[in-house]
Amino acid sequence: MMLTETFFSARRKALLQQLPDNSAAIIFAAQEKTRSADTEYHFRQNSYFYYLTGFNEPESVLLLLKKDGAVQTILFNRDKDKMQEIWHGRRLGQAGALTNFEIDQALSINALSDELPALVSGVESLYSCHGESAQGELLIKEMLNSLRLGMKKNWRAPSVQIDLRLILDDMRLFKTNAEVAVMRKAAKISCDAHSRAMTFCQAGQFEYQLEAEIMHEFASNGARFAAYNTIVGGGENACILHYTENESVLQDGDLVLIDAGCEYNGYAADITRTFPINGKFSVEQKAIYELVLKAQLAAIALIKPSSTIKVANDAVTSILTQGLLDLGVLSGDFEQLLQDGAVKEFYMHGLSHWIGIDVHDVGDYISSARTRVLEPGMTLTIEPGIYISQDSDVDPKWHSIGVRIEDDLLVTVDGNEVLTDSVVKTVADIETLMAS
Ligand code: GLY
Ligand code: MN
Ligand code: MN
Repeated sequence: MMLTETFFSARRKALLQQLPDNSAAIIFAAQEKTRSADTEYHFRQNSYFYYLTGFNEPESVLLLLKKDGAVQTILFNRDKDKMQEIWHGRRLGQAGALTNFEIDQALSINALSDELPALVSGVESLYSCHGESAQGELLIKEMLNSLRLGMKKNWRAPSVQIDLRLILDDMRLFKTNAEVAVMRKAAKISCDAHSRAMTFCQAGQFEYQLEAEIMHEFASNGARFAAYNTIVGGGENACILHYTENESVLQDGDLVLIDAGCEYNGYAADITRTFPINGKFSVEQKAIYELVLKAQLAAIALIKPSSTIKVANDAVTSILTQGLLDLGVLSGDFEQLLQDGAVKEFYMHGLSHWIGIDVHDVGDYISSARTRVLEPGMTLTIEPGIYISQDSDVDPKWHSIGVRIEDDLLVTVDGNEVLTDSVVKTVADIETLMAS
């Protein structure tokens, strides 16, 4: 389930095919980030750079050239350095890069400023991911200045600068079979982590202890990191959408909402499950839970080619509005409530986002209503929720019930595949698992 150089070099070829003749594309690796003093956050490669190289070192630059129909791939990377490698870790170096990657040249990152202008000179269009790397943008500015001042060397600066994301985002939106295989694995590991959390959950534990069970399952199965900060919110904390403090004690009688997914081989999973801390739903918890599940299943059934996220979200909004009206959480006329968007008080986020190398992956949604027509190969989440905080002006019996159910889907030729279907989500199945 590894992505190999065959995959990454095919991505570069596919990109080069879409670039016009006499163009260059420059993609920068991520930079290491200081956590405090002389300690760093764990390095995470830039998603675009990863997509085109699979190379996980900082201080690297990928240059793709297309001049007079001939293409060239050049990687600038860190030099081998005995001292640095003893203290900080291995480096591939230029010889290693030439062995591991299907590239034409590997050059020292220290030579970047010197080499780049001559290599890029003469191309008409310069592509880079605008806004991705402040340091990268500075380097490009310097290179352009060198080119403009390099008349004596016959240098010529490109006349147009184009955002490479216009091409790359759409490429990343459509997953190849190899990417789907990796995402299935990320999904499976994450499902198992949620199952483990359900099995290990006990009143009296801290939320972060459940987080630890999740991380344990990730790491035990080849995914050392979460794709995003894990949310473990018990009771009222489940009503805070991006709650990541995870520092409260889990209380008997409350629900707990866990939103967690691993990053596996660079690809994210994103799953939410909500379950009773003591293993048994109360009447009110069950009513809200089953309403969210009904909406989620209806939305999933609508995810297929030629449909849109908007169509699914309209169905969810309608089901949740009717359901909350039936339960007495909302009151009034159904059509009026729908028109007023009344359900937004309890369902205040979107239904879905693309998922891939980034948990909120790149790709145009066409409009904020998410009207892009779905096509096979797209991967997305379906994640309706209802959050009734203790401040809500409703019968207190509904207070502190926060429920989200989130799965990851692949759009297929004839519908969809739920990648995250190996962790239970019906009331009966959750209660059975927790009792075992
Ligand atoms: N975990 C963030 C989200 O569900 O979008
Ligand atoms: Mn999500
Ligand atoms: Mn999520």
